[in-house]
Amino acid sequence: MAQKTNWFENAVVYQIYPLSYMDGNNDGIGDIPGIISKLDYIKDLGATAIWFSPLYASPWKDYGYDISDYRAIHPAFGTMEDFDRLMAECKKRGLRVIMDMVLNHTSDQHAWFREAIADPNSKYRDYYIIRPGRKKNGKLLPPTNWVSCFTGSAWARIDGTDDFYLHLFAPEQPDLNWENPAVRDEIVDIMRFWLDKGVAGFRFDVFNLWSKVYPLRDDRGLLRLQKGSSFFVDGPRMHEFLRELNTRVLSEYDTYTVGESYLPDPEHAHRYIRRESGELDSIFDFAHLTSDNLFGLKFIPKPFDLLRFKLGLLGPQIKYFATGWNTLVLENHDCVRSVSRFGIKTEQYRYEAATFLALITFMGWGTPFIYQGEEIGMTNADFTSMDQLKDPVSHFVFDTMTKTFRFPRGLAFRLIRCGARDHARTPMQWDDGVNAGFNAGETPWQCLNSAYPEINVRRDLNAERSVYRFYQQLLAFRRENPVALRGETRLHLPKSRRMIVYSRELEGRRLLIVGNFSARSRKFRLPSGFHATRLAVRLTNYDRQLLRREMTLRPYEAIVFEEI
Ligand code: NOJ
Repeated sequence: MAQKTNWFENAVVYQIYPLSYMDGNNDGIGDIPGIISKLDYIKDLGATAIWFSPLYASPWKDYGYDISDYRAIHPAFGTMEDFDRLMAECKKRGLRVIMDMVLNHTSDQHAWFREAIADPNSKYRDYYIIRPGRKKNGKLLPPTNWVSCFTGSAWARIDGTDDFYLHLFAPEQPDLNWENPAVRDEIVDIMRFWLDKGVAGFRFDVFNLWSKVYPLRDDRGLLRLQKGSSFFVDGPRMHEFLRELNTRVLSEYDTYTVGESYLPDPEHAHRYIRRESGELDSIFDFAHLTSDNLFGLKFIPKPFDLLRFKLGLLGPQIKYFATGWNTLVLENHDCVRSVSRFGIKTEQYRYEAATFLALITFMGWGTPFIYQGEEIGMTNADFTSMDQLKDPVSHFVFDTMTKTFRFPRGLAFRLIRCGARDHARTPMQWDDGVNAGFNAGETPWQCLNSAYPEINVRRDLNAERSVYRFYQQLLAFRRENPVALRGETRLHLPKSRRMIVYSRELEGRRLLIVGNFSARSRKFRLPSGFHATRLAVRLTNYDRQLLRREMTLRPYEAIVFEEI
């Protein structure tokens, strides 16, 4: 049993989507040598750990979230020697490494699945969830009516047979059968393999789908948006499976685990991270990122709702405080860029909004997760046609909209563009040179964002108003301020539809975080109990010297006050 130091409570995690970060060998695809060349940049920002989206061997039907060999590095990213060098270079700089673990499903090209399909008597058959179809009026129907998270039936027929396999994502991502102890043995071994290489923890992809309700049956919930979800979200053995991973492997190392949750039930969400549960250290809860779309359906935009955002961002901080640990997230490889959403007039207020969002998010309680490019205020791309979008989900949804719901193609494209994951996956913008400095000229796998001549690392670092330098200041302030790290969060002005105001409090010391989430100047009055004469401005994205009980905050102005 290793001593658990909870190092993650002081950590700042930077997420890299390897395909799009830095292409060292100029083949159009980011790679490990490219990443190594940028480690100083990441360290200087103030990050202390890096989470890598999947680096493993994969046919890339879902760009690495379909793993064909959990112990191999994708050749386009480099070799295992490159990975070992990456580990060593990270270690030199005090950066810990967090690996993405995709354990709900494998690729259909994984040796287990290939064997399972080739030989019905193979032991690997039971590594997956395979069932005979149902015959009805001479037709063969899938075993249940469950719907995949990527649209369409969650079952695919095995060629030449009447059997189907379950895939909660793309058909090339067959779900693993966690009921089978042999599958869990394999998973434990895989995790040990990476921990022995020195990785410090894991991000578990859609972890709360691992356990399903058996026997499998139709979902008769009439109002349920996604048929089957009540049988595969937070399933009956979830807590047990997580505890098992801890007992059998995680507890032997000083690790950090963060589970990416899929629409979790709040009670389960709390149990997953409660310290005494021995399950996960934290989860990603994306509730605040549904504040400008309908029920989290990214492609159906709706006017930004600040009340919902505040509840989503601050609710877990209040609810989980002291019983577990929290994460703070604005972006990842599945989201649109934060400065291009929430009703923000990006052209006019990009710097203000990028710094505002960073301040109000990362001054909260929990570990900050910063997604590549967020630290220079990268924006959504101006895609003009479906062929520019490489994400299979954009195409699945487009097909569903145009074929099943008969939306005109133009409308479907505009809706896809609102929520496409592709926005986050354009190459990182390093400078205004060839291919934005991503490589030496080979066409990148995903087209560039045409804003790169104006928005890039070199320009931002030299600008008077630099988003990167603001992040540096913010992270440095957090690092040195125990109240920012450990203080309890309290929401003020909960009903305000324009202002976000909260305090953090630790042993009688207080910080007050104030932000005007709008493009108009707003009058703001200090909440009761706070006095202008006893507050000092510690960080702000505008110049502010004047402090009164009542102040006017400019568009997207955000301030951290400290009580003195
Ligand atoms: C969540 C990942 O973040 C996403 O990119 C992926 O498509 C799904 N899980 C399926 O693995």
